[in-house]
Amino acid sequence: MSTTPAISLTGLTKKFKDVTAVDDLTVDIRAGRVTGLLGRNGAGKTTTLRMLLGLAGPTAGHATVLGRPYGELPRAAHRVGVAMDAIGPVTGSTVRGELLVWTACLGLDRRRTDEVIGLTGLTGAEDRPVSGCSTGMKQRLALATALLADPEVLVLDEPANGLDPDGIRWLRDTLRELAAEGRTVLVSSHQLAEVEQTVDDVVVVQRTLRYAGTLADLTDGGAHRLEERFFHLVDAPERALTHA
Ligand SMILES: Nc1ncnc2c1ncn2[C@@H]1O[C@H](COP(=O)(O)OP(=O)(O)O)[C@@H](O)[C@H]1O
Ligand SMILES: [Mg+2]
Repeated sequence: MSTTPAISLTGLTKKFKDVTAVDDLTVDIRAGRVTGLLGRNGAGKTTTLRMLLGLAGPTAGHATVLGRPYGELPRAAHRVGVAMDAIGPVTGSTVRGELLVWTACLGLDRRRTDEVIGLTGLTGAEDRPVSGCSTGMKQRLALATALLADPEVLVLDEPANGLDPDGIRWLRDTLRELAAEGRTVLVSSHQLAEVEQTVDDVVVVQRTLRYAGTLADLTDGGAHRLEERFFHLVDAPERALTHA
């Protein structure tokens, strides 16, 4: 396993007028693992991911992915797969039509479209209009889009939202497989139970960093529930608890 972090955030800060959404966030995301970026609604998760991807400019600090700022990373769109609401379906088309647009944008073989349809369990739904898809199917489509270029790093904002229990299980198995293949997966969530069996590492944020380390360390090897530890961390007086 590589010791160079796949993603590094250094003093990352974002202020919107009088709201500080992200405050001095410094954390490394380890390569080849699934990391959960966990926090309540409004904790600053999406803002952090947007800064990582150059979609929002930080007020202070900086972020790198695979050693470079995203905007300076060669072949970034191929090396970093992204699923965020803001980068959702664009064509008003069918599931396959949507994927074909991205396949063409990325300069990939059209056959890759059908591969990711298979990988994300969308077989049979290819010809459905995206507008008629359930939230769960849209989540699968977003992940299919993120996987198109076979990226080394995946950045997924709330991919468990709107998934039913089967979908949650599918997502967990899929993310675990992707990490087992050596990929780095950074997944944000406010649903702790959904990610507890998915993540290796945990970054807890509540505007500031509250924890960064392994899930096993946080839960004492499973002796405590993630939820219990989480509330302790986010409701404690503000402080950053960082484990190496
Ligand atoms: N474009 C924006 N303008 C003003 N405030 C924003 C903007 N985006 C996010 N915020 C605020 O920043 C905080 C963090 O939001 P966000 O990063 O979306 O949190 P999360 O993804 O963890 O739910 C919230 O208080 C939110 O209202
Ligand atoms: Mg969010």
